Amino acid sequence: MQIDNKHYHTIWHNSENDTVTVIDQRILPFRFETIELNTIEDAWHAIADMIVRGAPLIGVTAAYGLWLGIKNESVVTSELLKAKGDYLKSSRPTAVNLAIAVDQVIDAIGADYANAAEIALKEAYVVKQNEIDFCDAIGEHGVKLIEAISEKKKGETVNILTHCNAGWLACVDWGTATAPIYKAQLKGIDIHVWVDETRPRNQGAKLTAYELGEQGVSHTIIPDNTGGHLMQHGMVDLVIVGSDRTTRQGDVANKIGTYLKALAASDNNVPFYVALPSTTFDFNLKDGVKEIPIEQRDGAEVFAMEGVLNNEVVTTRIMPENSPVANYGFDVTPARLVAGLITERGVCEANETAITQMFNDKI
Ligand code: MRU
Repeated sequence: MQIDNKHYHTIWHNSENDTVTVIDQRILPFRFETIELNTIEDAWHAIADMIVRGAPLIGVTAAYGLWLGIKNESVVTSELLKAKGDYLKSSRPTAVNLAIAVDQVIDAIGADYANAAEIALKEAYVVKQNEIDFCDAIGEHGVKLIEAISEKKKGETVNILTHCNAGWLACVDWGTATAPIYKAQLKGIDIHVWVDETRPRNQGAKLTAYELGEQGVSHTIIPDNTGGHLMQHGMVDLVIVGSDRTTRQGDVANKIGTYLKALAASDNNVPFYVALPSTTFDFNLKDGVKEIPIEQRDGAEVFAMEGVLNNEVVTTRIMPENSPVANYGFDVTPARLVAGLITERGVCEANETAITQMFNDKI
């Protein structure tokens, strides 16, 4: 997608110096900067400190991280691969793409330890390219939902609400929730996006608004609690969010606050869709509320906010110094509140029968 009219991916391998470059998402939209990852520790920190974030991008970074971790090892063994893989998997707990990508690279190496680094680099590229293709296909399937609403409204603006950033910054290109939006824009459909600010880290206000702005998509940032009001007044036609992990029965873990949007959508008959690639399904889990590990992050993210003051990026405390805070990163939306899952293979009902039929070969 575009930044300043230049096409970017969120991550790329530099063949000249054998490093990996990522966009630093901590400082967007205030500054656009990239960071070089030279070691597996760099990749671990990039994920844990949210230089990169979003389930698909976390997975791709971990795949390249494994390559960084073995490229200078004189002897690679299955024990070494497992240890490095486990280390990367410990960086963040909720997005399942992380473990899936690491395991994909280890599986590709198999027992060919002599060529492990070369295979790992090639497979990391496969992981990356797959995520691009999946998001592209999600866009093609999802745009049909927007098109149908536009036809029903006789070409009037289709209002879509999204939460957090499930855009191209969270993936490699296109995004998951945003792919149908970008495809709708290409088709000339009149669209407008309500962007939840998404406290505490404000991925909506900072990242989704930034990328929609760079792409020229009409959008409005709203405080997190606004969605229900808009839905009651017929101002939302469709909700599309992303996912960090979705179970075989269709329960969806996504950024904290997603569940409340799903409840409001259900109460107001607004279709609530989740866009996700197959790499975000955890077919081993069934009951998302009971089984999906929910990340708890540093209270500092709640306690303080970042903004621009006199052209400087500053962080400021916004609550009493001694009040305790809680910072749950994700919540789980039960399948019954989900109208459908927009995947690279098509739109699937959020239930075990439909999911296991569509992804039969992956289970
Ligand atoms: O904590 P983050 O910013 O990594 O959380 C991201 C989300 O919750 C996204 O909505 C999700 O990963 C889907 S990304 C395509």
